[in-house]
Amino acid sequence: MNDLIALISRHRSIRRFAEGPVSQEHVRLAVAAGQSASTSSAIQSYCVIRVTDPGRRRKLAELTGPQQKVAESGAFFIICGDTRRHRLISERAGRPYDARLEAFLLAVIDSTLFVQNMVLAFESLGYGICYIGGLRNNLAEVDRLLEIPTGIYPFYGLCVGVPAEEPTPRPRLPVNGVLFEDRYPDDATILGLVDEYDSTDRAYGRQRDGAPRLWSTLMTEKFAEPRRVDLGRFYRGKGANFT
Ligand SMILES: Cc1cc2nc3c(=O)[nH]c(=O)nc-3n(C[C@H](O)[C@H](O)[C@H](O)COP(=O)(O)O)c2cc1C
Repeated sequence: MNDLIALISRHRSIRRFAEGPVSQEHVRLAVAAGQSASTSSAIQSYCVIRVTDPGRRRKLAELTGPQQKVAESGAFFIICGDTRRHRLISERAGRPYDARLEAFLLAVIDSTLFVQNMVLAFESLGYGICYIGGLRNNLAEVDRLLEIPTGIYPFYGLCVGVPAEEPTPRPRLPVNGVLFEDRYPDDATILGLVDEYDSTDRAYGRQRDGAPRLWSTLMTEKFAEPRRVDLGRFYRGKGANFT
């Protein structure tokens, strides 16, 4: 254990924030830390849009759920894959831009490495954070609100601010449920580890909000039906080519 691992292990999503802004200096520090993450062949296929306008924050709070924290956290960011600058460079050089699914995946991977580093920097400065996948509930409206250009793929939001709650960190699968040696285990082993995790997570749920629930049931419900089925069309409309 060292200070960094201890900080990472203390992570818990914060959903209630105290009033008070996130200073511009801290934002610059955290974004620069995010940029230090590895990036596939240095393509840096990401950007982050900080939304400051209160009216837009309120509208985004509605579109994402509603999730009040989107309007109320000290800062709100939209994490995007960015292929636009590559397109502009190619256009200026008179070269075709013909990137396919690989480029989309690289944008997802690079953005996610970037933002998790940025998150750790914010957490190390004492802020709390919550990712907002609810941003993908209605990307067409998000697009209308923020006028997102071709080549930019909004993936999720991020609330950052001073925590107004102190939840206990949520347990994860046991390490041997995700760390395998040489080959993937048989299905009975996987299901046994899931059962083990179900009891750990249920104990946590009871202690946190008294709601008995099984992680495996939640997963079953989550993946029983297609969700956000317009995503392919939206990202294609922004220039993604999934072939
Ligand atoms: C990409 C992503 C999107 C998420 N979207 C939301 C969201 O819209 N609203 C929310 O309250 N939490 C959201 N979360 C937070 C997760 O629910 C949370 O990370 C998970 O339950 C584990 O809890 P912990 O972060 O407290 O350890 C999101 C997390 C990720 C990584």
